[in-house]
Amino acid sequence: MGMDIIDIALLIVLGATVVGVFSAGARWERENKGKPGKVIGQPGSQSKPKPKAKPSLYDRLGGEAAINAAVDVFYRRVLADAYIKRFFEGVDMARQAAKQKAFLTMVFGGPNNYTGKDMRQGHRHLVKMGLDDSHFDHVLAHLRSTLAELGVGEDGIQEVIGLAETTRNDVLDR
Ligand code: HEM
Repeated sequence: MGMDIIDIALLIVLGATVVGVFSAGARWERENKGKPGKVIGQPGSQSKPKPKAKPSLYDRLGGEAAINAAVDVFYRRVLADAYIKRFFEGVDMARQAAKQKAFLTMVFGGPNNYTGKDMRQGHRHLVKMGLDDSHFDHVLAHLRSTLAELGVGEDGIQEVIGLAETTRNDVLDR
């Protein structure tokens, strides 16, 4: 797959950003471990938290900044996988980054605008190209290793994989 010098430069710049954002995210997680998430401007947000109230994984990972960083790591892994990269060939890199961001926001349990119907429509042409469970499993494996690389613990990984699994039948259009 053709990678020109601009793409390589872009990856290097993004790579540097990943390290910066994630060390900040990890620090945030360390410092805020066990602390309740605060919702600014909502009544009661300063009061004592309920014992079980736990910020979403999306927030624990550092929200949108963390997603932006994870996109790069995840996308590099996917494109390096000979078994699935054909599905991404010819897909515009800049547009795809936005889509992968949407992908990760979904599986991190963050705010997203996609429905099952969108997932069906968005992947139907890929199902026609032969997309099946085996490819889906590869994507999940990359998701798992991306999260591990970024320092997410096994519980967080399980949570993300569980969310991703809920989209399987829609993505595979069945
Ligand atoms: C956890 C399962 C998955 C989720 C949540 C997911 C999510 C998404 C989202 C949100 C989009 C953007 C849709 C749009 O706005 O058009 C997208 C597009 C895409 N997905 Fe997935 N996806 C999943 C699995 C897969 C798998 C298994 C593959 C292939 C191995 C794949 C390949 C693609 C490609 C190539 C596009 C871009 C299609 C295009 O623009 O031509 N996805 N996905």
